[in-house]
Amino acid sequence: MLTHWFLAAVHLLAFALGFWAVLVRGTNFRRLAVGAGETRSVLISDNLWGISALILLVTGGMRAFGGYEKGTDYYLHQPLFHLKMTLFVLILLLEVAPMVTLIKWRVSRGAAIDTRRATLFARISHVEALLVLLMVVAATGMARGVTFG
Ligand code: HEM
Repeated sequence: MLTHWFLAAVHLLAFALGFWAVLVRGTNFRRLAVGAGETRSVLISDNLWGISALILLVTGGMRAFGGYEKGTDYYLHQPLFHLKMTLFVLILLLEVAPMVTLIKWRVSRGAAIDTRRATLFARISHVEALLVLLMVVAATGMARGVTFG
């Protein structure tokens, strides 16, 4: 029971942290694009976003498939779970380009950093934040057994 509660609390806290971090990362990219921000702020918000996404995946995976909630069978037959996972995969796909670029920035310490795509990455971050909100809509319906038809 306590593990069940712990996983649910950590999952929701990771959502709060992740949503905030990806919004801030978007703003930090935007500031960088206009020459006002620092690379360091982008990297810090990116770390927080990455950590929360990992926590969401681990706690969510345990809850869905580790027997801490309604069981694997329930989720695999719940359409809103499929919607939620599709949204998660979309976020991961959108994340490929900024992730690859930010890895390059991290390893090129001190060298000149190409910030030409910062505006695009700001937009991607904000679209990801919107997808996270849609995941909450799907999650709340999924938890309550909402089906269609
Ligand atoms: C950005 C990513 C995610 C967000 C924003 C998110 C959001 C949420 C929220 C708000 C709830 C609470 C629903 C409620 O009780 O009303 C929830 C529950 C849950 N989530 Fe996630 N989640 C995310 C990722 C994941 C992933 C990757 C998985 C599975 C691999 C997952 C599996 C679950 C499960 C099993 C529950 C419990 C539902 C129940 O009570 O039956 N989540 N999620």
